[in-house]
Amino acid sequence: QELQLNLEQIEKGGYEHFMLKEIHEQPKAIRDTYRGRLLSDEAIIKMAGVEDNMKTFLNANRIIIIACGTSWHAGLVAEYIFEEFARIPVEVEYASEFRYRNPVINENDVVIAISQSGETADTLAAIKLAKSRGAFVFGVCNVVGSSIARETHAGAYTHAGPEIGVASTKAFTTQITVLTLIALRLARAKGTMSSSDFRLYLRELELIPQKVEQLLNVDDHVKDIARQYLLSPNCLYLGRGYNFPVALEGALKLKEISYIHAEGYPAAEMKHGPIALIDDRMPVIVIATSKGHYEKVVSNIQEIKSRKGKIIAVVTQGDTAVKEIADHVIEIPESEEAFSPLLTTIPLQLLSYHIAVMRNCNVDQPRNLAKSVTVE
Ligand code: G6P
Repeated sequence: QELQLNLEQIEKGGYEHFMLKEIHEQPKAIRDTYRGRLLSDEAIIKMAGVEDNMKTFLNANRIIIIACGTSWHAGLVAEYIFEEFARIPVEVEYASEFRYRNPVINENDVVIAISQSGETADTLAAIKLAKSRGAFVFGVCNVVGSSIARETHAGAYTHAGPEIGVASTKAFTTQITVLTLIALRLARAKGTMSSSDFRLYLRELELIPQKVEQLLNVDDHVKDIARQYLLSPNCLYLGRGYNFPVALEGALKLKEISYIHAEGYPAAEMKHGPIALIDDRMPVIVIATSKGHYEKVVSNIQEIKSRKGKIIAVVTQGDTAVKEIADHVIEIPESEEAFSPLLTTIPLQLLSYHIAVMRNCNVDQPRNLAKSVTVE
């Protein structure tokens, strides 16, 4: 048993939990995911699975993304990116709903299935259904040789390496990375993005790992914030645009590992319900990056403040307006707004992690949850 324990210690590489290790592995995981695919000097993206099926992608009426859990959130981020870059309509579906709905789908549709494990039963069944209706199915999996990787027509792996913590972290950011590469490649092929913008985005994407690295230094600051909210029974997460799915993912992370009830919402929807919950005991995490409908988010923050909510804001370095109103700010490095989810996610992962540790929760194996859900 002692040997077993020591082995685990070694696997954790000096970190207290796998989740923390995996959060810190993200700069490398993102780099590994675009390595050999993103060639910024030559201004090309090389992805065999996309290249071999370019005609199918370009002729698609729409892209339907199917996934569960955190992978579904990566799909939502991808929806914004695909539509903005490649101007292809995208729908994002829970695999479990899609498979039982008799969906309208045919050979003119491209389905992208996202799954870390490649074994999720609902996602696998949804893929089989889509295939039976003639759709082309592309997989984005982390586990090489997994069932979903084998069941799909083509695909692109994320190169996150093994993810042990049940709550997904590096799989999420690498899924977004792969999907961004695909969107950029299709945008070039369709001509919906100029070559100069394309070059700029490639260079910007290459800078993300070092920005994540830099961002991980907020750990102590986030830990201080965590200490102040660890007894909160509820928590609200708000974001807009590219960062709306990040709000959902932030809330999911907190629920999963700390058992605090949390909700993610598009910031503007707050007035249609969640605002009724706000009082001086409600922490609200708001993503307020400088290029993402900033003024609108600032006015959302003011609405929360006037109801005495506690504001933890994720802002871009150099921000001044939000700093004046928020109770806490966490700064992220400047980037293209489309890539900001890769940054804004990081402090939210850390916040959930520290709150869960302080609440003595089993961070790597939360109650009632499984790493891969192979049954319905
Ligand atoms: C489980 C895991 C989540 C994961 C979801 C989908 O619920 O606990 O972390 O996001 O399944 O898994 P997949 O392997 O398909 O991405």
